[in-house]
Amino acid sequence: MRRTVLTEPPPQRRDRQTLAKLLPYFWQYRWRVALALAFMVGAKLANVGVPLLLKRLVDGLNGAAANPAFVIPLGLLLAYGGLRLCTSLFTELRELIFAKATEGAARQVSLQVFRHLHDLSLRFHLERQTGGMTRDIERGTRAVHALISYSLYSILPTLIEVALVLTLLATQFDAAFALITGVALVLYIGFTITVTEWRTQFRRQLNELDSAAHTQAIDSLLNYETVKYFGQEDFEARRYDRALETLRRAQLKSQTTLSLLNTGQQFIIGVALVLMLWRATEGVVAGRLSLGDLVMINAFMIQLYIPLNFLGVLYREIKQSLTDLDKMFGLLEKPREVADAPEARDLRVQGGAVRFEDVHFAYDPARPVLKGVSFEIPAGKKLAVVGPSGSGKSTLARLLFRFYDVQGGRVLIDGQDIRAVSQHSLRAALGIVPQDSVLFNDTLAYNIGYAKEGAGEAEIEAAARAARLHEFVASTPLGYQTRVGERGLKLSGGEKQRVAIARTLLKDPPILIFDEATSALDSHNERAIQAQLDAVGRNKTVLVIAHRLSTIVDADEILVLEAGRVVERGRHADLLARGGAYARMWQIQANSHKDHGNQMA
Ligand SMILES: Nc1ncnc2c1ncn2[C@@H]1O[C@H](COP(=O)(O)OP(=O)(O)O)[C@@H](O)[C@H]1O
Ligand SMILES: [Mg+2]
Repeated sequence: MRRTVLTEPPPQRRDRQTLAKLLPYFWQYRWRVALALAFMVGAKLANVGVPLLLKRLVDGLNGAAANPAFVIPLGLLLAYGGLRLCTSLFTELRELIFAKATEGAARQVSLQVFRHLHDLSLRFHLERQTGGMTRDIERGTRAVHALISYSLYSILPTLIEVALVLTLLATQFDAAFALITGVALVLYIGFTITVTEWRTQFRRQLNELDSAAHTQAIDSLLNYETVKYFGQEDFEARRYDRALETLRRAQLKSQTTLSLLNTGQQFIIGVALVLMLWRATEGVVAGRLSLGDLVMINAFMIQLYIPLNFLGVLYREIKQSLTDLDKMFGLLEKPREVADAPEARDLRVQGGAVRFEDVHFAYDPARPVLKGVSFEIPAGKKLAVVGPSGSGKSTLARLLFRFYDVQGGRVLIDGQDIRAVSQHSLRAALGIVPQDSVLFNDTLAYNIGYAKEGAGEAEIEAAARAARLHEFVASTPLGYQTRVGERGLKLSGGEKQRVAIARTLLKDPPILIFDEATSALDSHNERAIQAQLDAVGRNKTVLVIAHRLSTIVDADEILVLEAGRVVERGRHADLLARGGAYARMWQIQANSHKDHGNQMA
């Protein structure tokens, strides 16, 4: 199975670094955090006070049996109630105050990851597996919450409580109590951490399998139509089921080892509790301790061990959260392949002359795609590129947009190397109608208006009319509010292409690229739109990648690209006269036009 870097087993965890990376997000909330911590300490103090009160109550009652004049200690009862109330009140307050910090930090992290993903190169996005990656981000964001709530809300309070109780036991009673509690705690924590560490591998495996199954399901559903064309539903189901089966086995292993952990923990706690009670009972019998002391010790132990019960889960969740966070931060650390040069200036367009100088480029070093391509489109002129499929025509457009950097030579706009200017300003100067347009899963109006923030209805409609899209829109019941489906799949190829044309017209940049922009249209619409494109392209620099030669006879220059090299160049009439590759292509298309009669003319 193909794997991206994302699903590879992560290297040895660098937990502290991950935490250090998270902290800055909380810095702006430091006062909130401090206040929340104060409330937490308050809650714990109140909590430890409860058994102390209980002791006094019980000791008081002990005397009461022999004393008929005993009055019910109303003050103690009220204080008991008050303390209990304080415990939960302080806890709620802490939660309330802290929520804003956690939510805020989680939001910032998510936003930063999202922005960074858009900054990463096209290469990264072509190689990523969307299903697995979204899972990673989801888990990473959740980890921010989990980490904070588990460490700050659970581990820290428990530690404070342990310290308080141990101090009380050691000072109020004989050291044996503190000793038993202390030893039990050390054993308990040691056992929990060791077993949890050992279990981590199963958990990690589980997560990876979970992401893999998710990726597979998403990919299969994205290819819904292909699956149907080949009747492979059962194959897909079997493949998914295999993924689920390995997942289930990993889950089982994870569950079994969890049971082992829980049993061991209970054993340690049980032994400690029995020892403590034994010591306490002995003390009462020998008269060293009061009944109240016994009740208090018991109450302490129960209070202490209840949160400890969750220690294994907490430890694991914290480790897990750190892993998840690290994975998400790993995304953030992925270097940008195409980055703005430091102090990159904005592109200054004066007419928009485009120049490729001996451009060499390969997606994969082993297979060069462009082998020294040079051409110039003077400002306001139209250059056409023709050639067989795979010869590198669309690659020219991708390089002009700087989705990739050239490996040799230069690409210039108005004399400025596009690597020296900001990507934002570069792309603002370019407009493209791509070979296959993908649309947002939203309305037609949204997809057209996307080209220009704040475009009004009238503007959108004008663009749609120019792209010959308006009639189609008007024929749909919802008009411009028609939703186009995921990736625009509810539209035909021609309709999608016209949406792409409309939004490029709306953007109205000085440099236009049409990458087989009308290939999905019938010849009637093609001619109408071609006239429109010609009108729009007047006075603009235009790069046309053509598949029908009849659309480019008026180009100022035509390049014939074959296997990454320009094999012929010139104007239409000159190229025909030369009788080379272009003339042969023209001949072939002219013949097929005849075969199809009027339709292709
Ligand atoms: N992202 C990519 N990674 C690797 N190879 C690619 C990528 N995109 C295109 N290619 C290859 O580069 C060559 C040129 O592609 P392209 O410029 O799209 O051709 P066309 O002339 O048909 O528009 C093709 O052989 C194609 O397989
Ligand atoms: Mg192409």
